[in-house]
Amino acid sequence: MATRTLYNAKKSKADEFYTQLVDIEEELRHYKEQFRDKVIFCNCDDPYESNFFKFFAMSFNSWGLKKLIATCYIGSPIADTQLSLFDNEPTEDKTTKSPHKITITEVDDYNADGAIDLADVEYLLGNKKNTLTRLKGDGDFRSSECVELLKEADIVVTNPPFSLFREYVAQLIEFDKKFLIIGNKNALTYREIFRYIKESKLQTGYRNINDDIWFIVPDDYEYEKVVNGKKVKHIMACWFTNLDVAKHHEEISLYKRYTPEEYPLYYNYDAINVDVVTDIPYDYDGAMGVPVTFIDKHNPKQFEIIGLGVSNSGVEIGVKPYAPEHKKYRKEVQKRGAVDGDLYMLENGEIKVPYARVIIKRMGAVQWKSN
Ligand SMILES: C[S@@+](CC[C@H](N)C(=O)[O-])C[C@H]1O[C@@H](n2cnc3c(N)ncnc32)[C@H](O)[C@@H]1O
Repeated sequence: MATRTLYNAKKSKADEFYTQLVDIEEELRHYKEQFRDKVIFCNCDDPYESNFFKFFAMSFNSWGLKKLIATCYIGSPIADTQLSLFDNEPTEDKTTKSPHKITITEVDDYNADGAIDLADVEYLLGNKKNTLTRLKGDGDFRSSECVELLKEADIVVTNPPFSLFREYVAQLIEFDKKFLIIGNKNALTYREIFRYIKESKLQTGYRNINDDIWFIVPDDYEYEKVVNGKKVKHIMACWFTNLDVAKHHEEISLYKRYTPEEYPLYYNYDAINVDVVTDIPYDYDGAMGVPVTFIDKHNPKQFEIIGLGVSNSGVEIGVKPYAPEHKKYRKEVQKRGAVDGDLYMLENGEIKVPYARVIIKRMGAVQWKSN
């Protein structure tokens, strides 16, 4: 069966991680004012599965949304389990078996219990037949009909397939869309994604990037525990957005003074090494290599991001390759095997390689004078 085959192919990329409502609520509550009167597009979201769709449908009135659109990619794992929303469709041709789109411009308190909740969203899905239409293509976010919907949207919110994350973000940037999406934390150091961070086109959301997120997985995926009857697995994921996030306006408080002993220079790049973000010295005006978690606290008014001291990104900013006499150390000191563009230090004749480092510099660094 074509649909099932495609689903299996997609599964092999391990893209089916469904976001829990509680995690969506926890993040989204910070942005309410930025959503008023906006067209929201969830473009990797089967409305029957997606808690993003449910969240926005439930919040539709209280948040003053203008429109909510969700599109579903071919081969949704629940494709064979839903009843047709179109009574006159032949059994073999049910709408929910093929990619579809839902568009909402109003949500009512259908069960008249005084609040719009999941029961009303369920009613909406089951009874408002005019809101659900079949897509012509496969529902791929890059397909022309989905791109047309993207153009209509003000803000895109979803958890897109991790395997297509670079392409997914590139499309949002190309179409100059506001977005709030979930991605693997590793994506912070993808060369393309990091470039957007450096250019202040993308930042992390409110949730601390050190807090892993637990996702609901299909029955045949590996899982770690069962929560509310659903199998879940934790992933090092975080929120990526170009909406306004208050924490990125706050300054990191700095209390440590620079000393050459505590902050060694890299051997192959003119910057000092800082092991902990809160230990960034307040009086060092040159370049500093800080842990990647810095990105989660970055305020562009406090620090300028120069680059990433890792492989090709490191080469781009002038991190020198390992000196010939140090090459023999690279595999020994770093399990993954350091490559050109990675930073290293020389301490008492020994090579020391830090974890991935973001190179930063204080904004408008004025020469700090000690008394
Ligand atoms: C990580 S899951 C998240 C699903 C949902 N957004 C959520 O958060 O619960 C990513 C979803 O994107 C769908 N998908 C995979 N490739 C896609 C593509 N090219 N275009 C649109 N959706 C795609 C997958 O079927 C999967 O359901």
